Amino acid sequence: MAKARSTAFFCKECGYESAKWMGQCPACRAWNSMVEEPVAKKTAAGAVPSLGRTGISGSGAAGTRIRPSLLSEISLEEEDRIDTGFGELNRVLGDGIVAGSLVLVGGDPGIGKSTILLQVCRNLAGSGLKVLYISGEESLKQIKMRANRIGPVEGDLKFLCETNLEQIEQAIEAEQPKVAVIDSIQTMYREDISSAPGSVSQVRESTGILMQIAKSRGITIFIVGHVTKEGVVAGPRVLEHMVDTVLYFEGDRNASYRILRSVKNRFGSTNEIGVFEMEEEGLVEVENPSEYMLDGRPEEASGAVVSCSMEGTRPILLEVQALVAETNFGMPRRTAAGTDYNRVNLLMAVLEKRCRYQLSRFDAYVNIAGGMRMNEPALDLAIVMALMSSYKDRPVDPGMLIFGEVGLSGEVRAVSQAAQRVNEALKMGFTSCVLPKVCLGKLKPVEGIRLIGVSNVREAIGLL
Ligand code: TYD
Ligand code: MG
Repeated sequence: MAKARSTAFFCKECGYESAKWMGQCPACRAWNSMVEEPVAKKTAAGAVPSLGRTGISGSGAAGTRIRPSLLSEISLEEEDRIDTGFGELNRVLGDGIVAGSLVLVGGDPGIGKSTILLQVCRNLAGSGLKVLYISGEESLKQIKMRANRIGPVEGDLKFLCETNLEQIEQAIEAEQPKVAVIDSIQTMYREDISSAPGSVSQVRESTGILMQIAKSRGITIFIVGHVTKEGVVAGPRVLEHMVDTVLYFEGDRNASYRILRSVKNRFGSTNEIGVFEMEEEGLVEVENPSEYMLDGRPEEASGAVVSCSMEGTRPILLEVQALVAETNFGMPRRTAAGTDYNRVNLLMAVLEKRCRYQLSRFDAYVNIAGGMRMNEPALDLAIVMALMSSYKDRPVDPGMLIFGEVGLSGEVRAVSQAAQRVNEALKMGFTSCVLPKVCLGKLKPVEGIRLIGVSNVREAIGLL
């Protein structure tokens, strides 16, 4: 009889399991992400616990008959949402915290995950909820130092430094908090699994236990997951599919603002973002992100174009910058920061082929100012205009906003929610707006802003 394997290879990015090592993970296409680990015994993880609270009966206890339900038999109670004290966070979560949900907060180390969760704990405790903050990374002293920065804490907020999940389970049992924070999942371990904390199996099994605690007791658990680049530590994507909501913290560590983006949400829409700024006393909400993103914009500089991206329900103005310079080498350099590299290459190919610009002799650098990541196709036209503005060294009117999707034939295609984008531009004092001609037909004329419809990139470049 074949001996059962005692180890296997896991992708530390997505958790894919394989019997042999592979250079590239077939699931998430990450390179060199496979690590060898002992195989976990089949345990509770992955088995979804009863979802009774949503009105769906789980697999009942032995002996009880399992019966499918009619829609009319399912009662819908209003989920009670808990206010986090941050309007920006409430929106990203879909109007507040849902009791019994599991929320993953991912992001690079040092971006501010512990800070925002501590602030949320403080707000919740202040509104009378029982909160437990479990840290596996910092000592109580370090937590106290951070707490001192964010201000006085009132109410029932307790701290525990622990990494053993059995102990944590007991503590939660004893304290019965309404909300708990696990900082971070990569430091937690279960004794019955032989691999080290942070390994794929530990991270997955630990999350399984936390999910059972959350669902069976109606406790909301926030899990911190570091995005890791090196080593054998599993990344937060390993547990994305197990949790209800996945939030990622982004932003340039050197810039002070932070963006909280929801990439999965069982209780609300995804792609909503919350904007925060890191200050001396913790994170502060940014009410008007457009103003923030355009702060310090160079006037009359070539290669800079303002565009508008819809982030969930919210329009955000941002500056697209491009630098086109003659190449010194045979191979032109192309880079894209904050946007999709392949998209930039595609747009340059459109300019070469459809408008006959010899861009293969030029290096091109495209950047979304402020370090925000924006991948909306509505930015295409702005990228094209920024490239051409730099190429021709002609500045774009600083009062002009540009948006539209560019197709492979050089046509400018319609984008969604054009009216919201135009309104945001008006609100921010822009005087003209270049947009797809097809969108123009559906828009009522707006006072105070000139709308210029274009149907292809050549027409748009003609405006320079
Ligand atoms: P932290 O929340 O510890 O990051 P993470 O948990 O994601 O690793 O944030 C650390 C950074 O934030 C650190 O560089 C210090 C800075 N910071 C402030 O600027 N102001 C503050 O009030 C706090 C608490 C932290
Ligand atoms: Mg931390």
